[in-house]
Amino acid sequence: MERKNIVVPQEALDEQMEYCRRVRSFIAPGENPLAFVDTYGCQQNEADSEQIRGLLQEMGYDFTEDESEADVIVINTCAVREHAEMRVLGNVGALTHTKKKKPDQVICLCGCAMQEPHMAEKIRRSFRHVDLVFGPHVLWKFPQFLFEVLTRKKRVFSTDPCDGNIVEGLPVVRQGKLKAWVSIMYGCNNFCSYCIVPYVRGRERSRDPQRILDEVRQLVEEGYKDITLLGQNVNSYGKDLGLNMDFADLLKACNDIPGEFLLRFMTSHPKDATQKLFETMASCEKVAASLHLPVQAGNDRILKVMNRHYTRAEYLDQIRRLRELIPDIVLTSDIIVGFPGETTEEFEDTLSLIEEVGYDSLFTFIYSRREGTPAAKMPDVLTKEEISANFQRLVARQNEISAQKHAAYVGKIVRVLVDGTADDPEFPLTARTDGGRLVHLKGDEQLIGGFYPCKITHASNWTLFGEIAAEKEVH
Ligand code: 5AD
Ligand code: SF4
Repeated sequence: MERKNIVVPQEALDEQMEYCRRVRSFIAPGENPLAFVDTYGCQQNEADSEQIRGLLQEMGYDFTEDESEADVIVINTCAVREHAEMRVLGNVGALTHTKKKKPDQVICLCGCAMQEPHMAEKIRRSFRHVDLVFGPHVLWKFPQFLFEVLTRKKRVFSTDPCDGNIVEGLPVVRQGKLKAWVSIMYGCNNFCSYCIVPYVRGRERSRDPQRILDEVRQLVEEGYKDITLLGQNVNSYGKDLGLNMDFADLLKACNDIPGEFLLRFMTSHPKDATQKLFETMASCEKVAASLHLPVQAGNDRILKVMNRHYTRAEYLDQIRRLRELIPDIVLTSDIIVGFPGETTEEFEDTLSLIEEVGYDSLFTFIYSRREGTPAAKMPDVLTKEEISANFQRLVARQNEISAQKHAAYVGKIVRVLVDGTADDPEFPLTARTDGGRLVHLKGDEQLIGGFYPCKITHASNWTLFGEIAAEKEVH
């Protein structure tokens, strides 16, 4: 099936680059305008912020971490849980003070929460110091919006609903020198009943594989060592392209790019994680032996009302098959506690599932009601206190499991990528295992950027400590 052309045409991007030049022309010689970019939420938002920084740099801005001295502030928001939205509103409210001291400061809000009509409306009405609001679908028009704010001195709002598009070739300023995100697809078609993402990020659409491979190749040439392929549901990659290429094929093609680097990906939906994917992971030496496979709940009735399309038994069978192929795979997951109607007995099925799987770590969330989703209309059976008690039980049990997993590393030799420095004279370096575990390491800064075998000497609850096992780099 050929999809209709949803790639933003080059002429439209050229026009935005022209806006960049026009904004840059406002800068007087010797002036050094500063921008502050703050990001909430997931890695997709981090990747979007790297493009926002890229556009800002193109417009002549340098960056600051101090919002009081910034000429432009951009807050990239998240809509997944109410808590993140409340934090944004609190922080945006506080910006009235910085703007009072610096009246020309331009305040911009973008990202998923701005694509929710009630949030955009709230900003329009009650946060009058915000100059510019735009949703994720029109991020690429940021230069034009900023130009309009600067020249017309009036507020700009661009948050129309949209199924989504694909933009290639935007400038990026990456945050790290070793770790990089590569978006391979955007949007989500799954409509899990609790989740706002499909409403704000639009339908699934995959980037052209050649563009992805070119980007990965370039990153490797630039010295990036830890590359994560990103998408709301990477296992759906390619379904809309009609190219006979699925996610496992893309992963294999990335693995075939010459160079020494580690490949990761997220997020995988269990309903689409195929045996072919597991076999590809096992046979590709650059693909990290780790998988984030969000289960959300361990009870079949709850999984059904969540619209997840798998059962507990099917999920556990996947884990069993994966471990047959990759015995030391590092497994992580997302769990929601307190989904509407979940009883404590049903919650206990989640407890027994995490026990059975033995995850290395978990991302645990209390259910948050999202306006416009089917679950928002479902009634609760537990009180807030009961949900909170269940949540505490889950966290406590996982902490024990994680601690056991951590302790089991002691004495082992694992490969790590040395990625930075730590404030610890005895273990001055930080490193990550292939499975993403943090290691504090003995050694000097010259090691940063290399893969080394590392002997784990001891472990705390959250950190492993170790030393290089041999002088030679792992190849
Ligand atoms: N409430 C709580 N957690 C949620 N997530 C998504 N929507 C909600 C919600 N309404 C969690 C899921 C998802 C992760 C990114 O965020 O666990 O996997
Ligand atoms: Fe949300 Fe489900 Fe899509 Fe993940 S797969 S973004 S949880 S709807």
